[in-house]
Amino acid sequence: MVTMRKTHDSTFKAKVEFEAAKGEKQEGRRVRKDTRPRWTRVAAVSTVFALAAASSALMSRPQAAGRRAVGLAALTPLTSWEKAAPGIWRAKAGDVGRELRYTSLAAEPPRLDALARRSERDFPFAEEPIAFERTADGKIVLRIPCGPAEKLYGFGLQFDGLDRSQAVLTLNVDHWGKGSGRTHAPVPFYVSSRGYGVFIDTSRFLKIYARVGNRKDALGNPSPVDRNPPPGETAEPWQAQPRSNAVEALVDGPGAEIVVLAGANMADVVERYNLLCGGGALPPLWGLGFWHRVHAEADEARVQAEVAEFEKRGIPLDVIGLEPGWMTKSYPCTFEWQRKRFPDPAGFAAGLLKKGIRLNLWENPYVSPESRLYKALFPLSGSHMVWLGLVPDYTIPAARQALLEQHRTDHIEIGVSGYKIDEVDGYDVWLWPDHASFPSGTPAPVMRQAYGLMMQDLIFKGLFKARNLRTYGLVRASNGAASGYPFAIYSDAYDLKEYIVGIGAAGISGLLWTPEIRDAGNEHDWLDRMQLVGFSALAQLNAWASGTTPWHFPAAAGKVKAFLELRMRLLPYLYSAFAAYHFEGAPPLRPMLLEDPSLAHVEDQFIFGPSILVAPFYGRKEWSREVVLPEGEWYDFRTGAPVRGGNRVKAESASGEIPLFVREGSLIPMLKEPAKNAEGAYGQPLEVRFYGRNGGTFDLYEDDGRTFDYEKGKYRVRRLSVSKDQAGAFRLAETVVKDGAPAMFGKTELRVMTR
Ligand code: GAL
Repeated sequence: MVTMRKTHDSTFKAKVEFEAAKGEKQEGRRVRKDTRPRWTRVAAVSTVFALAAASSALMSRPQAAGRRAVGLAALTPLTSWEKAAPGIWRAKAGDVGRELRYTSLAAEPPRLDALARRSERDFPFAEEPIAFERTADGKIVLRIPCGPAEKLYGFGLQFDGLDRSQAVLTLNVDHWGKGSGRTHAPVPFYVSSRGYGVFIDTSRFLKIYARVGNRKDALGNPSPVDRNPPPGETAEPWQAQPRSNAVEALVDGPGAEIVVLAGANMADVVERYNLLCGGGALPPLWGLGFWHRVHAEADEARVQAEVAEFEKRGIPLDVIGLEPGWMTKSYPCTFEWQRKRFPDPAGFAAGLLKKGIRLNLWENPYVSPESRLYKALFPLSGSHMVWLGLVPDYTIPAARQALLEQHRTDHIEIGVSGYKIDEVDGYDVWLWPDHASFPSGTPAPVMRQAYGLMMQDLIFKGLFKARNLRTYGLVRASNGAASGYPFAIYSDAYDLKEYIVGIGAAGISGLLWTPEIRDAGNEHDWLDRMQLVGFSALAQLNAWASGTTPWHFPAAAGKVKAFLELRMRLLPYLYSAFAAYHFEGAPPLRPMLLEDPSLAHVEDQFIFGPSILVAPFYGRKEWSREVVLPEGEWYDFRTGAPVRGGNRVKAESASGEIPLFVREGSLIPMLKEPAKNAEGAYGQPLEVRFYGRNGGTFDLYEDDGRTFDYEKGKYRVRRLSVSKDQAGAFRLAETVVKDGAPAMFGKTELRVMTR
């Protein structure tokens, strides 16, 4: 029977009602056109009879027959959908009593306020239900129908492509494993070109068979083709992987919750997913400036010398990141200051802060026997170690408390602004084995899937939100429902093209991703990498092993400085983009497919903020590439020259500047002058660039940039509008549409870029 716990959606109610009884379910199937060859249809019918015979035999002699039903009819349709918000439904498959859902680890509760403003939608699986069965060994398989023309995208931070319309993926947390599905953030969420999304809200290992695996009695299987026809007969194209009509997910556990989301288009679906997961993270303003991670062996003197060089050269710097050498012992870690390198951590942090520079600390979670936490954490840790360090069970409050207390006194109270949480993705040969045990009884694979999320939760809520202080940091593993965490994922991988795809992939899956730059073989590569990083969620040079600095290639130092200044000038634009992520779930960086589904195949460009299209140079000797622009008029960001959309255009640059295009009717609020760091951005006048023929608007978001007071309404929104006056000249008008806080930036001045 259909049980509807809460719904105001009569369409949905009506549509699921027909699934209520088993007979009706079969009825629903029969109306679909059977395109199979005749002989397969006969076989399917006889399978049903065979099953009926088998099941009656089973009932009479259960032990002797030992057969289980294997047809589609053996699947249980999910009919008890609970409505969570407009266009969002949840259901349980199997036994979920003890299962850990990713949404229970989210940074914030669902943003029901924003979701309530979204339109009601029809339930996307009314025609053919999502169903599940228990495997012979007690796991759960979900079967999610999928139409022949649908395209599927997502499954987390996959770097080898966004299209998952036919794939087998092992969604286990791991370092990047090229194409297998194993990745730093294997989020079990995908969107369909039909305008819906599916999120499997479980922290179990998952294996996804997207359109792979043809059930013998499914409708819509392609017809078999003779691969070796006799002479005189034409060979039809034979397929090594005949496409199935469903996504099947093997859950390595007794049950799972499944969330279905529907939207007006794929972008709307992704936004609803982010809102369900608590909305997007809003980093502090300083987090969006430039970060420099020093060499792992750097001591205070070396850091100070590098900072002084940044100042001398006038290169922006917001955050200094310390790598493992700041600790007394690392791999496993003590989390305690190495006084031989940093004799006065408090003085050091305060000195940097005086210059407006924040300190970020590297750590991995594995506890060294030499840490003063070791004794307390020993009984609260898993059976196995990582690099001979304890793996604390942070589902246990006492374990959380111990770490928080130490971090609070040793780091936070002296002004440390955040962390880089390393090695939570692991690798089988050094991570805990799947059979490890944890004192809370949490299975080891669940720990592996959720450890990155748990660390973000601990640090974000326990250390920063508790003090009404924002943080921004890095983490090497994350997973479902992570959108509210202010952490960017990074990787040791180093392929520039993969990095660009990663930016798009993260935008689909509620993640922030930062491509890495640590060194480069030549100046050309260095410039390409540096600029891509400058147009990412977290702009950082990770010199932990290379010891590089932005002026590493002296001849390119001026250009690098100019790119970083551009990043700083774009802070007001980028900060507003993050506010839209937070309040409306709109990813600040996203793939072309969320902009224009017909450009889903274009994976080497992306959209940055509301209206800038970024087409990075990569992998070529010349600074020249093809760019595909969506329909409409576009403009070159730097010159304002119009470029016709709906076209492929060639972008070239003698100096290697990253190609940037702006959509018709866009306003880009920028600092008039580049700030040396975010502190210097406050109160600065803005140049509002306008690209277009008729006019446009931009909602400029402002708050204190440091605390969570915006959650209490303490923020300001200035609506900037450009329109043409009677004489045909462009004018900029400003209306404060929300007046909860003082302005962050200064007065605005229009700069018409259109040529
Ligand atoms: C790696 C990490 C690098 C760097 C290094 C320090 O695992 O990915 O970014 O932090 O550890 O040992």
